[in-house]
Amino acid sequence: MAESAFVVVANRLPVDRIVDADGHDAWRGSPGGLVTALEPVMRKADGAWVGWPGQPDVDVEPFDFDGMHLVPLRLSAEDVERYYEGFSNDTIWPLYHDVIAAPRYRRIWWEAYVRVNRRFAEAAASVAAPGATVWVQDYQLQLVPRMLREARPDLTIGYFHHIPFPAYGLYSQLPWRRQVLEGLLGADVIGFQRVADAGNFARAVRRQLHYETKASGIRIPLPDGTTRRALAKAFPISIDADAYVELAKRADVRARAAEIRASLGNPRTILLGVDRLDYTKGIQHRMKAFGELLAEGRLSVEDVTLVQVASPSRERVGAYMELRDEIELTVGRINGDHDTMDHTAIRYLHQAYPREEMVALYLAADVMLVTALRDGMNLVAKEYVASRLDNRGVLVLSEFAGAADELGTALRINPHDIDGLKDAIMRAVTMSPAEQGRRMRALRRRVREHDVEDWSRDFLHALATFHDEGDAAS
Ligand code: G6P
Repeated sequence: MAESAFVVVANRLPVDRIVDADGHDAWRGSPGGLVTALEPVMRKADGAWVGWPGQPDVDVEPFDFDGMHLVPLRLSAEDVERYYEGFSNDTIWPLYHDVIAAPRYRRIWWEAYVRVNRRFAEAAASVAAPGATVWVQDYQLQLVPRMLREARPDLTIGYFHHIPFPAYGLYSQLPWRRQVLEGLLGADVIGFQRVADAGNFARAVRRQLHYETKASGIRIPLPDGTTRRALAKAFPISIDADAYVELAKRADVRARAAEIRASLGNPRTILLGVDRLDYTKGIQHRMKAFGELLAEGRLSVEDVTLVQVASPSRERVGAYMELRDEIELTVGRINGDHDTMDHTAIRYLHQAYPREEMVALYLAADVMLVTALRDGMNLVAKEYVASRLDNRGVLVLSEFAGAADELGTALRINPHDIDGLKDAIMRAVTMSPAEQGRRMRALRRRVREHDVEDWSRDFLHALATFHDEGDAAS
């Protein structure tokens, strides 16, 4: 097998398996935050990507796709149930998002997580050239850095955590809290979205492992009495902003935006929510606020429509099934109470769309509602901003989304405060074009000046320099 000097290890491959028009299996580039973020980096570096093809029991040989060398890892139906749906998405995901849903701690899930993490580590070790850089992605693979270091001490290992890292009081619930910290500390550089996430991690390391931490550095004692260092620091992720700008300029995309507005009856204001259907996103809070504004007559369906795209996600996990039922009940109630023959209150779409359609929606929307109860970053907020070439439109942004640290001129809200959220929606709906312009220009500057290429460059630069210094120090 060909060896690569640069290897990404992520739960998912950046492609989906589909059946093409002739009935043959084929691959299609898949959307999604992580993939969107890493695709350009991978293409430029000509690297390998180790990941799961997204379906159980799929056995595929490594292949090249769009300039990337893809190394598929087979997961059995039981692996998917215990490692992916179970430990990753029913234990770690809710725990790391401030226990919005109750995490379930099951020992058979943990055992599967260890086993599958080991297989990812072995696959990465087998494609990495001597002295290669391996970049491990996200919470599904927290044990991989240490496993890789043990197998291949020659490698430079980075890890990026795309979701929040919780406060110590919550983290300490995890029965395997020490093993997870030790797993992550196998990396030379451990990247987080926010300064607060890196701080929470360092505190957990101090409290649980009693290692010394100083600024962003962590000193890890080794069995032979020496120490090695790791860096835990914030590297906020971003988007391929130019790609959104290019799409927003396209005549067909702009025509589609006008078509969307017309199909909604040309309301004065379109509010937009775009999320994976996930309990962290505060979709119900947003709907509650909107429903009350309609009920109180502060907004009317003739003037305002809320478009809610909720893309299907993790549909076999119980908390997600319950959430879908709750949301669909709420949409039905609000629409039943307020729709007219010509106008709808909420246009709800439980579907995923290609990027062109998303940009058309961003162009059609006067107000973007990001009301997450907790979110690692929220790239949708950045996509909306990047697409607004006319410097108009209002971003309503939860202070609990990582993006709030950077996007200071958005209208900040606490989604738990329904009255505050309602007032913010009214402020957004009535905001003067001049104020929209002032705010949006500053937001756009930030997103264009710090895009996903800067993110990966910053991370990889820190990894390369830190590794060299570490060598010199030890
Ligand atoms: C978040 C996570 C990613 C994950 C994505 C979609 O953005 O940080 O690691 O890939 O959600 O979730 P899924 O479970 O479908 O991969």
